[in-house]
Amino acid sequence: MQQISLYDALYSQWAVRHFSDRPVSDEAVQTILDAAIRAPNGGNRQLWRFLVIRNAETKRRLGQWYSDSWTHMIDNMTPEERATQPYRSGGDLGNGMAKVPVLMLVCVEHPNGPPATAHISRGASIYPAVQNLMLAAEALGLGTVITTLHTRFEKEIKEYLGMPANSETAALIPLGYPAEDVRRVRTRRFPVADVTFYDRWGHKKAS
Ligand SMILES: Cc1cc2nc3c(=O)[nH]c(=O)nc-3n(C[C@H](O)[C@H](O)[C@H](O)COP(=O)(O)O)c2cc1C
Repeated sequence: MQQISLYDALYSQWAVRHFSDRPVSDEAVQTILDAAIRAPNGGNRQLWRFLVIRNAETKRRLGQWYSDSWTHMIDNMTPEERATQPYRSGGDLGNGMAKVPVLMLVCVEHPNGPPATAHISRGASIYPAVQNLMLAAEALGLGTVITTLHTRFEKEIKEYLGMPANSETAALIPLGYPAEDVRRVRTRRFPVADVTFYDRWGHKKAS
């Protein structure tokens, strides 16, 4: 198996929304999941559940729900917002979802039902596993993008997939080799200096 350094994976990871039809092996999926479950999680309760979806009809249905949410979101945006990088080609993803080799639906099973709280820490036991999954995919040359738009149809999706009432979906992640004609752009982020304070909110490092 090809090995790249952690820093290589961190810096090369980007949101891939166009995929080639090159198949993704079960071995790669298992390797990626085994990395995902190494993630930190509250009380080591490991309430993550992963749905590995290869069935064409299931992928088509999920793509349809995704596209409906996408249209709803885009309709509520200004033309300027729509023209920004994450949204320019995002609509293609829903249309292409049926053809993405694998959809990974990352879920949580809450023993006592989903907590009612909307506190920011609510997803803190699942999103580290999501990031592990995506970095492990990157290390194998596979592309991913974390998506959450499908949650608008959470009820319908749970029913369709036979998910229990005490479960919820956290992310829908297409997984495949990036399409060859996709031009890779370096991820753009604000510099650390712009987003970091020292000891007290608002205190920047003296330069
Ligand atoms: C919570 C969350 C939800 C997201 N949902 C979607 C989504 O529904 N569809 C999509 O195409 N990208 C989605 N993204 C991906 C972001 O658009 C992407 O991470 C961001 O634009 C940075 O892309 P880059 O790493 O290629 O620079 C989501 C990202 C996060 C963290």
